[in-house]
Amino acid sequence: MSRSLATTETPQANSPLVQTLPASLDPARLPAHVAVIMDGNGRWARQRNLPRVMGHREGVEALKRTLRLCSDWGIGSLTAYAFSTENWSRPGEEVSFLMALFERVLARELEALEREQVRIRFLGELQQLPDGLQQRIADATERTAHNTGIHFNVCTNYGGRRELVLAARRLAEQVAAGQLDPAAIDENSFAAELHTAGEVDPDLLIRTSGEHRISNFLLWQLAYAELHITDVLWPDFNEAALTRALLDYQSRQRRFGGVHSPTP
Ligand code: FPP
Repeated sequence: MSRSLATTETPQANSPLVQTLPASLDPARLPAHVAVIMDGNGRWARQRNLPRVMGHREGVEALKRTLRLCSDWGIGSLTAYAFSTENWSRPGEEVSFLMALFERVLARELEALEREQVRIRFLGELQQLPDGLQQRIADATERTAHNTGIHFNVCTNYGGRRELVLAARRLAEQVAAGQLDPAAIDENSFAAELHTAGEVDPDLLIRTSGEHRISNFLLWQLAYAELHITDVLWPDFNEAALTRALLDYQSRQRRFGGVHSPTP
């Protein structure tokens, strides 16, 4: 997400680059963690009589824009659903295009991610991805592991139920090996076995293109997230759409099962 690639235009060498938080938003009440289901790439392309894959290419631009805004506005973590365990059932050509696209984007953007202190991680069963992509992922993860800026999580070959099953299996293995007392299993020890271990739970889930579904995304982690559904198709997601999502979030009373919002 080099700044020159954040838009299709090349910025002036010394133009002000950091995007300021819109005045309508309260900086003290931003979500610490935003999750996004980036839906509608195919429909965006169809509306323009373009092949579906062009929607995915444009979707990458929307993701870079969103990462840039979240980072500039001081949001701690952004988690995006890039490829689900169910997405393998798409036409082979589309799956191959997406894998090649992920690899290309990582190769192209790694330097900028490093420079801008983004810590990138890929969450999911990565060993099933093509070898070249796995190598890029390992390299990017390692080279950005100690960065101090936004946590950028890309869910790839990710499924929420699968993640829960794998966590349960790992705990069971520890019990079987006599390393863990079943009575000691609690929410913290369970969460520590998830792909998101160490990450705070999302406060806000944004889903684009109007579908009202979770689609097997972060089933455990979204327990108390506020949901924002927008009709905007993902490739069109921009500063105005993110601002609307954050305003919607700030209008909510978060009770976490209690009777009033905890004091901020
Ligand atoms: C779904 O649209 C969206 C995807 C399958 C995500 C594609 C991935 C990216 C845009 C970003 C990848 C980024 C990195 C950093 C590797 P859809 O095809 O389901 O749209 P439709 O519902 O309109 O058909």
